[in-house]
Amino acid sequence: ATTTTVADVKTETETPVATIPKEITILYGSQTGNAQKLAENAGEKFKGLDFQVTVSSMSDFKPNNLKKVKNLLIVVSTHGEGEPPDNALSFHEFLHGRRAPKLDDLRFSVLALGDSSYEFFCQTGKEFDSRLEELGGIRVQDRVDCDLDFEEPAADWLEGVVNGLNTVGGTTVSTGDAPSVETTESSYSRTNPFRAEVLENINLNGRGSNKETRHLELSLEGSGLVYKPGDSLGVYPENDPKLVEEILNELKWNEDEKVVINKQGDEVSLRQALINHFEITVLTKPLLENIVNLSENKKLKELVESDLKEYLKGRDLLDLIRDYGGWGQTAQEFVSVLRKMPPRLYSIASSLTSNPDEVHLTIGAVRYQTHGRDRNGVCSILCSERLEPGDTLPVFIQSNQNFKLPENNETPIIMVGPGTGIAPFRSFIQEREELGAEGKSWLFFGDQHFVTDFLYQTEWQRWLKDGVLTKMDVAFSRDTDKKVYVQHKMLEQSKELFSWLEEGAVVYICGDEKHMAHDVHNTLIEIIKTEGGMSQEKAEEYIATMQQEKRYQRDVY
Ligand code: 2AM
Repeated sequence: ATTTTVADVKTETETPVATIPKEITILYGSQTGNAQKLAENAGEKFKGLDFQVTVSSMSDFKPNNLKKVKNLLIVVSTHGEGEPPDNALSFHEFLHGRRAPKLDDLRFSVLALGDSSYEFFCQTGKEFDSRLEELGGIRVQDRVDCDLDFEEPAADWLEGVVNGLNTVGGTTVSTGDAPSVETTESSYSRTNPFRAEVLENINLNGRGSNKETRHLELSLEGSGLVYKPGDSLGVYPENDPKLVEEILNELKWNEDEKVVINKQGDEVSLRQALINHFEITVLTKPLLENIVNLSENKKLKELVESDLKEYLKGRDLLDLIRDYGGWGQTAQEFVSVLRKMPPRLYSIASSLTSNPDEVHLTIGAVRYQTHGRDRNGVCSILCSERLEPGDTLPVFIQSNQNFKLPENNETPIIMVGPGTGIAPFRSFIQEREELGAEGKSWLFFGDQHFVTDFLYQTEWQRWLKDGVLTKMDVAFSRDTDKKVYVQHKMLEQSKELFSWLEEGAVVYICGDEKHMAHDVHNTLIEIIKTEGGMSQEKAEEYIATMQQEKRYQRDVY
């Protein structure tokens, strides 16, 4: 294929257009690794088109270099209530601040990742997109907002970018093959999961506990899959057959009727489709809008136009069908509006070095009541109630570069992981034990009761005794009148904790985002203020610097 530039083809009447170099910078902001993977794949694509490619995490990119960039792609996910991922925070702030440069020479496009069951769907991508335009950038391809099922829209976006770079005043690039979204050594991936055999499945909590936490051991033998401490395992669960039964009972279709489940045209029975291939436990705004577009349903139309947000909260497909009836002329139409079953990501609880061919998970069983019915977490209750040794689960490795042991084994680490947040730290310490790492380590763990909820208690106690773990502080919140949480334990030891920070320790936080991670963050700031004699502002800067140096890493959910 030939490559020409605009300069080559300009006519005498045209004002000369500067040749735009075949250089592209692809910046990602990624919490779970999806945005990073897509950015890297886009990078491969442009390398194949003879571009000079820079792929970088936003946190590793020097904002001052932005002025030199001619072609910029942003791939960014949205986290929590419309927030940027941790490694996008500083760049996001820079770009929206007063020091952001004019970007008249910049050509850009944004790929936004998100989950349409959240109100602020793809918010961070939207913000980057409009801000880059505001600063003078030229959009070469419209932003694409991806839902959980991001592969296809992401591939379409990339194709659009390649074409857009051609047509929007610049380089002519040859279009190669359709962009591939896969680049792993193993042939198994998110789109082609490995069926891992269950080796062990036990409840870690003792009798009488309010909680049930499954410890799952899976075999990766023969898969070629590898992982590092801090990585996650993606699991494709099955819906509860009883719930599927109840849905089918409300509908007029025959459960054995064949329906197409993907673009490749694969067919399975309606029942199988609802068990394995579609999400039935979450309602989203686009889902209801699609239903309204599909069928004349006045009542539902009114709902979509009024207090939809309130209705969506905590309700599922069965509620919707019972409240508003079914939809579609055929079973095929019925499933056509549903979201594909998204995989669940779990922080891996084992080290591959110490458990060859195995991967372990720590999964909290989710059960609750709402709108008059019992509800179950799809994957966790599958593991708790319907998964036995010998069964298999479709899995893939999701690497997470934002949660990694320090390269230097002598670097001290501080791990804060109450509840199932303990999982990656079991992996960390297994790995450090295996490597004979000399760095100090400090674990903060918390849960409700010492007797029933101390996850992996004997392992921690052995590691502490053997010196693989240097220090351990535990907070059992419901053993005393007053709640004791991990952050209270941190505060009690603020002097020593601050001295670890000053020695260069890396702080890891894993677990609940909304309450725990937030409170732990504020506690760290308090500790830095008191022990370092700093103002609030200085303490926040201290943490921001740690974050920049990858010494403050979070895996929160
Ligand atoms: P609680 O449920 O008794 O309030 C793991 O789930 C542990 O985290 C439990 O002991 C839980 O306590 C505790 N926890 C709840 N909210 C927390 C918060 N904001 N900060 C730290 N720990 C918290």
